[in-house]
Amino acid sequence: MPAAQSARASATKTDDTLLREVVEGLSQVHKQLPSKYFYDSAGSRYFDEICQLEEYYPYRTELAMLPGIADDLSHLIRDQRDVVEFGAGSLVKIRLLLQHLPQIKRLLPIDIAGDHLREAAAELRREFEHLEIVPIVADFTRQVELPDRNKVKKLGFFPGSTIGNFTPLQAVAFLDRARRSLGAGALLLIGVDTKKAPEILHRAYNDKLGVTAKFNRNILTHINREAGGDFDEDKFDHYAFYNPTQGRIEMHLISREQQVVTVEDYQFAFSKGENIHTENSHKYTPEEFLTLAAEAGWRGVRKWLDDEELFCVHLLQAGG
Ligand SMILES: C[S@@+](CC[C@H](N)C(=O)[O-])C[C@H]1O[C@@H](n2cnc3c(N)ncnc32)[C@H](O)[C@@H]1O
Repeated sequence: MPAAQSARASATKTDDTLLREVVEGLSQVHKQLPSKYFYDSAGSRYFDEICQLEEYYPYRTELAMLPGIADDLSHLIRDQRDVVEFGAGSLVKIRLLLQHLPQIKRLLPIDIAGDHLREAAAELRREFEHLEIVPIVADFTRQVELPDRNKVKKLGFFPGSTIGNFTPLQAVAFLDRARRSLGAGALLLIGVDTKKAPEILHRAYNDKLGVTAKFNRNILTHINREAGGDFDEDKFDHYAFYNPTQGRIEMHLISREQQVVTVEDYQFAFSKGENIHTENSHKYTPEEFLTLAAEAGWRGVRKWLDDEELFCVHLLQAGG
C-alpha cells in the first residue's frame, strides 16, 4: 500500500517518544492525542496568532495585568532570583517582569518547541543584554533537571493558563515536579483561567477567522512529519465546547468521512463523525486552584484578579 510505504521511508526521522504516544493515543477506544504535539514551529506561530484575536481574552487579560503584578513583585521579592519559565513560547510576557525586576540576572525558559524557543531567546538577548538566558528544550510532563544547580533561589513563571491543559490530577503531579525542580525557597507565579459564562469560553476557542481550527488541525501535520503519518487535515473538522461537568474546554477533531490513516506501520480506522480528543483547557475558581496547589506542596502568597474576573494570577511559595 503506497501510504504505508511512504510512511516507512520516513521512519528514520521518527521521534520514538512521539510515535509511541501518538500510537497509544490513537489506539484508545476514544481516540486522543497529547496537546503538547500542537507545538512545532508552525503550531507556535498559530498560537501567537490566536493571542492577537479579539475573542481570545486570556492572553490580553493576563498581559494587561502583568505590569501591575511585576510592580507588586518588586516590593515582595527583594533577593536575587533566577526565573524558570515553563512553556515559554515567544517570551513576550517575561519582558514585563524583567522590566520591573532588575534583580533577575538569569532566565531559564523551558519549551518543547525547540527552534521557536531558540529564536525567541536570541531576540530577547538583544533587548536585555545584562541577562543570561539558558534555553531548555524539554517536555515538562516529565521531571526537568535544571542544567546547573546554583545557589540562587528560583522564581518559577508559568503564564497562559497552560496548567489548564493538564487534568486536575496531572496538574498536581506537574506542580509537585516543578516544586522539586525549582528547589528550596522557590516561588511560582502562575496564570490560571477562571470559570465564567460558557459563551465567553466558547467564543475564545471558536474564533471567526478559524485560526484555532488551523492550530488544532496542525497537530496532524506535525505527526505526519515526525511520525510518518498520512493524515489529510482537510478531512477533519475543528470542534471545541465547554464541558461544565469537568469544568473544561475540550478540543476535538472530527473525521469528515470514513477513512483509514497510517502512522508508520500502524493503521487507524475512523468512522464518519468519529473524534480525536486533542486538548483540555481546565478552568478553576481561585479557591479551587489554591486547593490543588496545596496538594502539591505550594501555599498561596497573593493573587491578582482582573476587574471582570476573567483571569487569575497566583503567587505561590514552596513548602505548604
Ligand atoms: C498555551 S502556550 C503559552 C505560551 C506563553 N507562555 C504564553 O503565556 O503566551 C503553551 C506553551 O507551552 C509549550 N508546551 C506545551 N506543552 C509542553 C510540554 N509538555 N513541555 C514543554 N513545553 C510545552 C508550548 O510549546 C507553548 O509554547
